[in-house]
Amino acid sequence: MKEGQPKAIELSEYQVPHFLIANTDLHIDLNEDISEVTATLAVNKNPDSKSDSQDLLLDGGAAMETLEIKIDGRALLSNEYKIEADKLTLFGVPDQFELQTRVALKPQENTALEGLYKSGDMFCTQCEAEGFRNITWYLDRPDVMSKFRTTIQANKASYPILLSNGNEVDRGDAGDKHWVSWEDPFFKPAYLFAMVAGDLKFIEDSYTTMSGREVTLQIFTESHNIDKVAFSMTALKNSMAWDEQTYGREYDLDIFMIVAVESFNMGAMENKGLNIFNTSCVLARPDTTTDAGYQRVEAVVGHEYFHNWSGNRVTCRDWFQLSLKEGFTVLRDQQFSSAMGSETVCRISDVATLRNAQFPEDAGPMAHPIRPSSYIEINNFYTATVYEKGAEVVRMIRTLLGEEKFRAGSDLYFDRHDGQAVTTEDFVRAMEDANEADLSQFRYWYSQAGTPTLDVSESYNAEAKSYALTIKQSCPATPGQAEKQAFHMPVSIGLLGQDGQDLTFDTSAADVANVLTDDQFTVVLNLREQEQTFEFTSVSEKPVVSLLRGFSAPVKLKFDTNRDELLFLMQHDSDGFNRWEAGQRLSVAVIQDVIKQIQSGEVVEIDERIVKAAESLLNEAVAHSSNATIDKAMFAEMLMLPTEAYLAELAEVADVDAIHEARGAVRSRLLDSLKGLFLSVYKLNQSAAAYEFTSEEVARRALKNACLSYLVSGGDQEAIHLAVAQFESADNMSDTGAAIRALVNCPADLAVEPREKALTEFYARWSDEALVIDQWFGMQASSALPGTLEKVKTLMQHEAFTMKNPNRCRAVVASFASQNIVNFHHKDGSGYEFLADCVIELNSINPQLAARLLSPLTRWRKYDVARQELMKSQLERILDQGSLSPDVYEIASKSV
Ligand code: TRP
Ligand code: ZN
Repeated sequence: MKEGQPKAIELSEYQVPHFLIANTDLHIDLNEDISEVTATLAVNKNPDSKSDSQDLLLDGGAAMETLEIKIDGRALLSNEYKIEADKLTLFGVPDQFELQTRVALKPQENTALEGLYKSGDMFCTQCEAEGFRNITWYLDRPDVMSKFRTTIQANKASYPILLSNGNEVDRGDAGDKHWVSWEDPFFKPAYLFAMVAGDLKFIEDSYTTMSGREVTLQIFTESHNIDKVAFSMTALKNSMAWDEQTYGREYDLDIFMIVAVESFNMGAMENKGLNIFNTSCVLARPDTTTDAGYQRVEAVVGHEYFHNWSGNRVTCRDWFQLSLKEGFTVLRDQQFSSAMGSETVCRISDVATLRNAQFPEDAGPMAHPIRPSSYIEINNFYTATVYEKGAEVVRMIRTLLGEEKFRAGSDLYFDRHDGQAVTTEDFVRAMEDANEADLSQFRYWYSQAGTPTLDVSESYNAEAKSYALTIKQSCPATPGQAEKQAFHMPVSIGLLGQDGQDLTFDTSAADVANVLTDDQFTVVLNLREQEQTFEFTSVSEKPVVSLLRGFSAPVKLKFDTNRDELLFLMQHDSDGFNRWEAGQRLSVAVIQDVIKQIQSGEVVEIDERIVKAAESLLNEAVAHSSNATIDKAMFAEMLMLPTEAYLAELAEVADVDAIHEARGAVRSRLLDSLKGLFLSVYKLNQSAAAYEFTSEEVARRALKNACLSYLVSGGDQEAIHLAVAQFESADNMSDTGAAIRALVNCPADLAVEPREKALTEFYARWSDEALVIDQWFGMQASSALPGTLEKVKTLMQHEAFTMKNPNRCRAVVASFASQNIVNFHHKDGSGYEFLADCVIELNSINPQLAARLLSPLTRWRKYDVARQELMKSQLERILDQGSLSPDVYEIASKSV
């Protein structure tokens, strides 16, 4: 752990590196006690640097013991260098020389999982963002790019497989050890280095690229998981083909490897030619993995593969540019998932993620632009803002320019910057240069934080047959940014007639950014002003406007659509996303009424229109029941009420108890009125066929299980029987999981016994499958039933619980603190105290994870004064701890 007062790094202080490393030759000797790394670096002064200092400053890790330092073969005397914790200064070095260092490490003690560490019985690495410095002394920054040659040596019996980036070039034996050398022909920054040693099994396949080169594909796991990687192999081949078709990007090495590891801080890592994955993002088998799990695996396999161009071939100049690779790559994986499944359903779930995770971040103390200008610990900036909002920003460029021009822009970007470490500015400029476009005002999306609000009003002139929309934009102040400049954004709209069909209309060409070629009824308006009026002519009747189709900009919309119009849009809008959105807005309005009634002690009265809306959906679902159609996934999405997290985000002051009660009341009302329909749709969508991961089957299960969750929430005998029967007969985890989750959340006394029985059976059946046991922990920790905190504390005493495995830790702690709003925010503050205890304990085990888990406490401004005080006092208690990691210190100190 890094000690002392952490210092902020500023974008404005960026300087080119004073030295470069053309070649990096690593020799890694792995042992159970002390491992040794010898690095031989070809160092030279950077001709672009203005510094005339001949001192070389290298990054290192505090846990590394330095055994030897040589320049051009000569060991340095003690007055020729200085080591301070994580810095090595070499005094008066020549312009060009060979530096050799030898260091000792104990990977088995590295619980932070950054650098070289052990996951179970295997050695592996995680170097992004600044983990490589824990392996050897280096210029650990992404604008220092080097050619790597890596030799790994380890015991042959325990570690038969030794992997690194690039191609295997040599191997040999050395007593009971063996060694393998790898060479990566591409220049890369150290954060893309990887190495793995273990007793691994693999599956192999091959892919022929568009130019006819054959690439070997291998996926490695420990032997007990090798039966769960076939799906990832398919996803990988689909990703490779998709990137060729959509972006014209071809894979560049002769081999592409994926390794699955159990202990991993994030989802996966795009190391050149050797991706390392959290098991949760690569393993899939019908009986262990839900449909959502399959979708996640497909998306992450795609995401890491796409990084080979958007991240590796063209990388980041510095970590402030992180969204250059992450925002763009998230957009690419979203496009890929849409192509593999349903575009509308993907869009709905991406927007839901943005609203549930990014909007709160943008409204809190850690709000930052997608290109931050300052950080203490870069690990804290792998955020929903950099990733998800970053993807929205690139998506807006695509919407403004249109598909073809966007492709011309990405072609120019990749060609112009291949092999370089660049900035978001370079990306935007390529988009402009390829198209003679002007994105100067658009650039505020990169430098301004906060979620803009659009305040919209309309008017229709029946005589002139003209319609006008006035849009006012505003953006709240965020830390360090009181005033905001107006954003340039695409606002997609359509107009509906009384018959529910899209109307034709004319607009002034000046207002239109882009006309979608496949949709003549939607226009993309160029919103640039603080307040701007758009005129539409030849509008034959008073229209119902469909605003922000496809969620064309990451904003909050304020527009007084009346509830009848929302119901109308929900039934008729030709834009699938906006059909869902209209339904959500109707639900939000109705639930907000009930929240108010609860708060003022009035009788609860639920607007009938929400029942009508659900009824029409369920009837539509009945009509479709015999078809295999992805529309069922839409019905499922539309039946789900907005989450408590989103309702909290929309409230001025989030009254979690009233939100929970109100949402529950609306749900019971829907069930009471429509029970027969829920039951029919459930039964009509049961199937005895074997599990298949196809969009149609995923949609069918989603609809069926949405109905099941309504039915079981009522808690009657018949519904509980349905859940138990499904739990016992299902051949796949989507159905098993949905059934047991329904029981775990069912408040009825009747559910207690079947729930305990199911949980016991489930654990016994799956105790050897870590990812299933994570689900078992997660579903219990996220149960909204009272008493869950006590349950969570008991779970943490369970033999299968450990703080050292991030997946396990997240399954319990994050499920409770971020997905269990009522219990976490219990007014006695017990949830807050619990989370602070976990963060304090984890701070010394795994700071990166500790800081991430802390985020629910940083949202204290959203709650009532009493809760605010309780939350802040836990943040203060964390800050009072002696040796805080910079990770936790940054989040806690910026939040109070
Ligand atoms: N670059 C990884 C991605 O694809 C993110 C990542 C994986 C990461 N492991 C990490 C970031 C560890 C920080 C620390 O998105
Ligand atoms: Zn990524």
